[in-house]
Amino acid sequence: MGDTHFGYQTVDESQKASRVRGVFDSVASRYDVMNDLMSLGLHRAWKAYTLAVAGAREGDRVLDIAGGTGDLARALARRVGPRGCVVHTDINEAMLRTGRDRLLDEGLVLPTALCDAEALPFAERSFDLVTVAFGLRNMTHKDRALAEMRRVLRDGGRLLVLEFSQVAQPLRKAYDWYSFNVLPRLGQWVAGDAQSYRYLAESIRMHPPQAELKAMMKAAGFGHVDVHNLSAGVVALHVGVRC
Ligand SMILES: C[S@@+](CC[C@H](N)C(=O)[O-])C[C@H]1O[C@@H](n2cnc3c(N)ncnc32)[C@H](O)[C@@H]1O
Repeated sequence: MGDTHFGYQTVDESQKASRVRGVFDSVASRYDVMNDLMSLGLHRAWKAYTLAVAGAREGDRVLDIAGGTGDLARALARRVGPRGCVVHTDINEAMLRTGRDRLLDEGLVLPTALCDAEALPFAERSFDLVTVAFGLRNMTHKDRALAEMRRVLRDGGRLLVLEFSQVAQPLRKAYDWYSFNVLPRLGQWVAGDAQSYRYLAESIRMHPPQAELKAMMKAAGFGHVDVHNLSAGVVALHVGVRC
């Protein structure tokens, strides 16, 4: 096994998944409120944009990877209707359970699977659409995960990766100040956990920027990849087509 990064720390590849699990075990119950506070509600707009680009249609089969508390899965389920299917998945039981409870409270019963994006338990070409929001950054072998996402898509199917990315140069100083001063304090105050939100800020900086991720998706076999920058690159939506 080689080394990888967990935020700014170098760790053995075999340790990363359990370190990431520790982060999401710790924040699961306060995850939604923290998302609203940290992004000043902007994550809702980023997800709404993702849904608009996804253009899911009635009857579509959709896989939501790293689905966590279920924001995308819930909205997608309404779009595909009773003839379609949205599978809500995550590697973390606490996040998946929180999401499933929230979906049930809203009257939605979705197939739910605890699984690692790097080894998806689904047959080849079984989905029309695959989504992953703010999850890829946490994966140890992003290349393997992208190859798996492609494998389970039908020909012509699309992968949507919504993820933090590289912010435009003029905003970097202010964004860094916010990330390393405000986020950990907010995390401590709301979720009783500064460290997990320091990891968030660090992991964003270690994630491949827009062009690099696009190249990784092409290398994973996506014939066409579009990149949409949102909020000056704070977030980017990468759309890959299996073709
Ligand atoms: C920041 S949350 C995003 C949750 C949700 N998609 C959203 O946008 O609010 C990241 C999620 O990625 C999940 N995750 C991390 N590594 C994963 C992996 N290898 N396979 C599947 N999910 C993973 C975590 O458990 C966590 O629930």
